[in-house]
Amino acid sequence: MSGKLINGKEIGNTIRQSIQQEVNALKEQGITPGLAVILVGDDPASHTYVSNKQKSCEQMGIYSELIKLSAEVTEETLLQHIEQLNTNPSIDGILVQLPLPKHIDEQKVIAAISPDKDVDGFHPISVGKMLLKQPTFLPCTPYGVMKLLEHANVDIAGKHAVVIGRSHIVGVPMGQLLLQKDATVTYCHSKTPDLKAITTQADILVVATGRAKMIGADHVKEGAVVIDVGMDRDENGKLCGDVDFDAVIEKVSAITPVPGGVGPMTITMLLFNTLQSAKKKLS
Ligand code: GUN
Repeated sequence: MSGKLINGKEIGNTIRQSIQQEVNALKEQGITPGLAVILVGDDPASHTYVSNKQKSCEQMGIYSELIKLSAEVTEETLLQHIEQLNTNPSIDGILVQLPLPKHIDEQKVIAAISPDKDVDGFHPISVGKMLLKQPTFLPCTPYGVMKLLEHANVDIAGKHAVVIGRSHIVGVPMGQLLLQKDATVTYCHSKTPDLKAITTQADILVVATGRAKMIGADHVKEGAVVIDVGMDRDENGKLCGDVDFDAVIEKVSAITPVPGGVGPMTITMLLFNTLQSAKKKLS
C-alpha cells in the first residue's frame, strides 16, 4: 500500500477562502480584524514562524502588528505591552511567540493575555474551557490537525489515536480533541519505555516530538493515518518532519508531508480564531 497524501496547503487554502469571505463581509461593516504578535529575542525559527503569520494576515486583509523585543527585555516590560494590547480596540488577537527567554515566566505571561483575545488558546481559562467542551479558542496546531482529519474523511470515533508528545502547545490538547471525537487516546513521551509497542497499535498516529525522522516504518501499523507535526532539519539541513516520510508512506493509508501538511493549517486556524474574536464586536 502507498498512502495518500493529506495536503495541508490545499485544505488550508479551502478554509482560508471561507475565512476571506467573512473577513470581507466584516470589513464592509467597518470592522477590520487585528492580530498582535509579540516576538522576543532572535531565535531564527520563531522569526520564520512569525513572518509567515504576518504574511498570511496581510494576504487576508487582517491588520497585523508586530512587537519585537530584545532577548534581554524584562518580564515587566513584556507584561506592560500585553496590558496595552488587552485594551487596544483595534486588536482582536494577541499571540506571544514561544519559547520565551529563560528569565521570563512563560505561564505568567500567558495568563496576562485577556482570555477574550487569546487566539492561541493557551490561557488557563481557555484550556479549562477546552477540557469542559465549552466554546473557546482552540490551540491552532491541534485544531488544524482536527480539520485535516475532517477534510481527509478520517473516522475518529472508536479508533485508537496515539499522540507522541505532551507539550501544552500540541500534544496535550491534541489528545483531548481526539478524545472529544470519541477516539481511545494514548499519550507517549520521552519516558515511554517501549514506544513501538504502542505506536504500532495506532489507527491514528500524531507525532509531535521535534526529533527529525524518528518515526520509521516499523513504528507504524499497516493502514494507519499518520500526522507529522514536526518542523525539523535533516542531516543536510533540509526541512523535514518527525516521521521518516519516504519509509512510512509505503505502509500507511494516509500521511501529512513536511512541509505542506500541518504547518499551513496552524496559521489557517490562527486566522480563523482572529476572525472569531473580531466577530464578537458585531453583537
Ligand atoms: N511556538 C511554537 N508553536 C507556537 C504556537 O502555536 N503559538 C505560539 N505562540 N508559539 C509557538
